[in-house]
Amino acid sequence: MKALKHLNKYFYKYRLRFILGLIFVTASNLFAVFPAQSVRIAIDLIQENLNLYQLYNGTSMQANVEHQVGWVLLYFSGLVLLFALIKGVFMYLMRQTLIVMSRFVEYDLKNEIFNHYQQLSLSFYRKNNTGDLMARISEDVGRVRMYIGPAVMYLMNLAVTIIVVVWAMFSVNIKLSIYVLIPLPILSYAIFYVNNIIHQRSDAIQSQLSKVTSFVQEAFSGMRVIKTFAVEDYSREDFETYADEYRNRSMDLAKVDATFFPLMVFLTGMSTLITIFVGGMLVISGDISIGNIAEFVIYVNMLVWPVASLGFTTSLIQRAAASQQRINEFLNTKPEIISDNDEPFIFEKSIAFKNVSFCYPNKTEYALKNVSFKVNRGDTLAILGTTGSGKSTIVQLLLRMMDVNEGDILYDEKDIKTINTKELKKQIGYAPQDVFLFSDTIANNISFGLTSDAQHIDELIKEASNNAALTSNINDMPNGFATIVGERGITLSGGQKQRVSIARALIKNPEILIFDDCLSAVDNKTESEILENLQRIMKGKTAFIISHRVSSVKDASHILVLDKGEIVEAGNHIDLLMKNARYAELYQSQLQEEVA
Ligand SMILES: Nc1ncnc2c1ncn2[C@@H]1O[C@H](COP(=O)(O)OP(=O)(O)OP(=O)(O)O)[C@@H](O)[C@H]1O
Ligand SMILES: [Mg+2]
Repeated sequence: MKALKHLNKYFYKYRLRFILGLIFVTASNLFAVFPAQSVRIAIDLIQENLNLYQLYNGTSMQANVEHQVGWVLLYFSGLVLLFALIKGVFMYLMRQTLIVMSRFVEYDLKNEIFNHYQQLSLSFYRKNNTGDLMARISEDVGRVRMYIGPAVMYLMNLAVTIIVVVWAMFSVNIKLSIYVLIPLPILSYAIFYVNNIIHQRSDAIQSQLSKVTSFVQEAFSGMRVIKTFAVEDYSREDFETYADEYRNRSMDLAKVDATFFPLMVFLTGMSTLITIFVGGMLVISGDISIGNIAEFVIYVNMLVWPVASLGFTTSLIQRAAASQQRINEFLNTKPEIISDNDEPFIFEKSIAFKNVSFCYPNKTEYALKNVSFKVNRGDTLAILGTTGSGKSTIVQLLLRMMDVNEGDILYDEKDIKTINTKELKKQIGYAPQDVFLFSDTIANNISFGLTSDAQHIDELIKEASNNAALTSNINDMPNGFATIVGERGITLSGGQKQRVSIARALIKNPEILIFDDCLSAVDNKTESEILENLQRIMKGKTAFIISHRVSSVKDASHILVLDKGEIVEAGNHIDLLMKNARYAELYQSQLQEEVA
């Protein structure tokens, strides 16, 4: 239950609504008690007048009594109707304030979680899968809302109803009240019990449903692979297994669900029976009137739902607490990358790695070992190396997606940890190795790199696409820049995607440009076109080019050859050829491939 404390700030924020809700709950309950009393008065009145009516049998007074009673009855039925209407209005207002409040809190909480997610470093996302992140912001928040809205509303209602009704009951007859109240705690417990089973089974359904969803989602996004390997039948069989399990679990729930209402009706019926039986005895002994029995039957009916809802509410609150606990777990995760310097940063001189070593968490082998280099502003540093040699790791560290284990990374001689990361990233244009495109237009995918206050966006997009050698491709598309690329860019070729991503990096006209192997899927002619453009636009600026191919790196001012996390060779193209070692070997073999 402690977990729910987190929500108190929201109750405080919406305290006015909360108090208003309480007032409406009380009012609606008062207007439910009055009709019960009216009914008692009316029945007792008829009872008395019935005697009178029989007394006047045969006289002209009889018609008079009949007439009078008729009017009184009409008056009371009007009253009951009016009270019911007023009660309805207050109930409407109660829901409007309390349920709406819960929607506000839901909105705030989702924003709080999403904002927090955005702050967290990549290592957090490596640890937790997307499904889990999604579940906490949607399902778990939904359950917490059930506590803030319905649960709180039912609890308020229960408290007020019990006070008002029990008070009204005890003021009539204590003995009858006690008899009538006895079955209610049993009702409450029974509902709590059944409801827990219902929740367990719906959780089982929910978890199966998320399996089905993930399966389907993966099948759809991997449809290309499924089709090319012709494994549709297996895929269908797998789906059937998941779906069967889902159906079985749904049937389990349906069975318990079916007992819920009969149980409620049975226990309510018991209460009413006891009221009439014990009440009847009391009428015979002259302790109460017939009207009182009718009044009590109405009270019992008023109590049943709130008391039943206690069982229901308790399990809602338990679930909300469990969900809030899960949410808190994430909210209490501190971002690993801390950047508390607000000063602006403009890159001016150099970037240096000093004896940097880095090991990914939960790995034993270092991804980078004692790496040192320095790049001056205006230079291009190329990094060449086999797969897994640590090239992308260098890039991740340059972007401060993670912090080094040993050594320092210096921008303008300042430790990267002392620079505001947002400011730093503003200076950097980055085309990652694995391209990610949003299911939006090409234009929006390119302009994604811009800040919101950018002007002449259309021209900037055109220029970036020219520099990325993309324009002729886009012109061939039916809607040009307005073409939607499909989910993750499914409608584009590998090379086209890479170039959209390059354009996205170029459009912000960055001081520092990082290309992580993002020319791997373009042909040689396009590659040299892009590299030529780069030489022009990156004049006086700094670039990092990462590649497997010598052709992409040979013009760089400095080349690092990386192997198993270590720099094994460094120098420019000519130096490295003269060494006649690894770089030269690579050059020869790639040259031969091209010729062949
Ligand atoms: N997120 C990660 N968690 C754990 N280990 C990782 C992670 N990313 C990379 N590694 C490991 O770190 C080493 C270096 O990986 P890196 O991605 O830097 O290689 P790379 O040179 O970019 O290779 P490629 O040319 O294939 O892109 C590899 O052994 C890899 O398995
Ligand atoms: Mg890489």
